[in-house]
Amino acid sequence: MQIRPRRLRTNAIMREMVAETRVHKDQFMYPMFVTHGKGVNHPIQAMPGISHFSPDTLVTEVESLLKLGINKLLLFGVGEHKDATGTSAYDQSNAVGNGVRALRAAFGNDLLITTDVCLCAYTDHGHCGILHGSSVANDETLDQLAKMAVMHAAAGADIVAPSDMMDGRVMVIRDALDAEGFSNTALMSYSVKFASGYYGPFREAADSAPSFGDRKTYQMDFRNSRESLKEALLDADEGADILMVKPALAYMDVIRSVKESTLLPLACYNVSGEYSMVKAAAEKGWIDEQRIVMENMHAFCRAGADIIITYHAKDICQHKWL
Ligand code: PBG
Ligand code: ZN
Repeated sequence: MQIRPRRLRTNAIMREMVAETRVHKDQFMYPMFVTHGKGVNHPIQAMPGISHFSPDTLVTEVESLLKLGINKLLLFGVGEHKDATGTSAYDQSNAVGNGVRALRAAFGNDLLITTDVCLCAYTDHGHCGILHGSSVANDETLDQLAKMAVMHAAAGADIVAPSDMMDGRVMVIRDALDAEGFSNTALMSYSVKFASGYYGPFREAADSAPSFGDRKTYQMDFRNSRESLKEALLDADEGADILMVKPALAYMDVIRSVKESTLLPLACYNVSGEYSMVKAAAEKGWIDEQRIVMENMHAFCRAGADIIITYHAKDICQHKWL
């Protein structure tokens, strides 16, 4: 007798039947950038297909996304007024505040709005927290993050997503939301966020590159795996509703091990550099974009991600790649 695994690959229907992983559009969360002004649709050079929108054009764009079946956003603000402590991050009339209110007014509960909570687009030095000399002061930063999260919740965000990697921020943000009457606002934590070269294009998009140094004193060292469980379990204890691993492609092992260590839903963030590499190679005709993108999406699922945050979501839904 010869064992023949190939029998189950003989035709498309057979392969459909035994497929172990299925990707569904309901898993996608689509990142978008909102800036101040009116009538803005400014393409981001290093991220073909992705633009800055002002609140009004954001509403128009989201209307077409909803028609494609994309109904979950992760919203990033581009800071207009920057200072040392990032005070404009929690100014309710900043781009995120205006954008969230405009989206909520236009679409009600047909749209799930998540907002990124971090100071780096609002500080004049581009770091994710308040500086003491040249180092980022953890506990002083927490108050700022809490105010920012409360502002987003008040504007109508369904989920707030802290990406700063300060210690203890999940508990402080949770307590602040509850104290201000937003106990139903969910919290998705960027629990396992590595100091990564893959964020390069994003920093152009969000105008958030650090003016000196790097983020290695707060974001994780990519040589570490056990430490990712420590971060994930702490965030779960502090009250996070959803955990995240970021970036995704180079961290499949981490996605898998976090998944096996928690009962919470797990998101992975297929970040800007991962997107730009695929787009650039596809533009050169060196790879088949659809094949590569769908292979990556299934890989995230296979690794254990429940939610996939990806700039590819619009292409996938528009071109019916699923
Ligand atoms: C800011 C933030 C970054 C990303 C999300 N939030 C960049 C950074 O930490 O430098 C990266 C997203 C992407 O690359 O797509 N805290
Ligand atoms: Zn930041």
